Amino acid sequence: MAVRFLDWLGAPAGADWLDLGCGTGALTQTILARSSPRSVVGIDASAGFVAHARATTADERARFEVGDAQKLPLADASVDVAASALVLNFVPDRVAALRELQRVVRPGGFLSFYVWDYPGSGMGFMNAFWNAAIALDPNAAELGEGRRFTFCTPEGLTALCAEAGLTAVTVAPIEIETRFASFEDYWQPFTLGAGPAPGYCASLPEDKRAALKERLKQDVGGEGARPGAREGGDGPVGFIARAWAVRTAC
Ligand SMILES: C[S@@+](CC[C@H](N)C(=O)[O-])C[C@H]1O[C@@H](n2cnc3c(N)ncnc32)[C@H](O)[C@@H]1O
Repeated sequence: MAVRFLDWLGAPAGADWLDLGCGTGALTQTILARSSPRSVVGIDASAGFVAHARATTADERARFEVGDAQKLPLADASVDVAASALVLNFVPDRVAALRELQRVVRPGGFLSFYVWDYPGSGMGFMNAFWNAAIALDPNAAELGEGRRFTFCTPEGLTALCAEAGLTAVTVAPIEIETRFASFEDYWQPFTLGAGPAPGYCASLPEDKRAALKERLKQDVGGEGARPGAREGGDGPVGFIARAWAVRTAC
């Protein structure tokens, strides 16, 4: 997704970048590999992710800091390109975060970000999980990201940007195929407990979790499975994942 996003953004070489919500450094590393930056600063609220990103990004153009999107630890007009991947939906005050991004971008620079298309069922591997969960437990309908992150649509994102004073924005879909080596490979992260779907999974008693797993296995082996999925078998399974990417000149 980061590769497609950077190709779409088309930022010039030699720029100073911010990767807001850098996590383990996936976007930062892609910027370093493909966008010939002068520098990249990765900022994330999680000290653990920042430590991991530091330890795994061996490039003197990159540095990482712990910080909050709503109050960035950066000077005014200190980067040419601000980018943020799959973060904005987690920030409580999104307008404040967009204002902060505007503050730190130099005049003539770019502000850009992308979020999963949760409301448009754009995150295939997550939809399959929730569809199976809801088929067995209608109460699960309240928990899916589509209900929680309703602003992640072209209209919602444009309105959010307008609220932060950004009017000339471009919004575009970016799609990738997410592939898993087998159903077990797909299922295993749902058992780890972090995030809404794994959290729901962890909340189920063992028999209900087993029933959900079986239902999901049937579902992703049949309708909705992408090429490469073998019905009922242990072959790879794949889904389409779609994000909405937003960019604007500052
Ligand atoms: C889904 S991860 C995306 C990580 C990375 N950008 C990527 O594409 O792999 C979301 C990240 O946002 C960070 N985050 C959430 N709220 C934040 C905030 N208020 N300020 C800074 N980072 C935040 C999380 O710690 C997490 O690393």
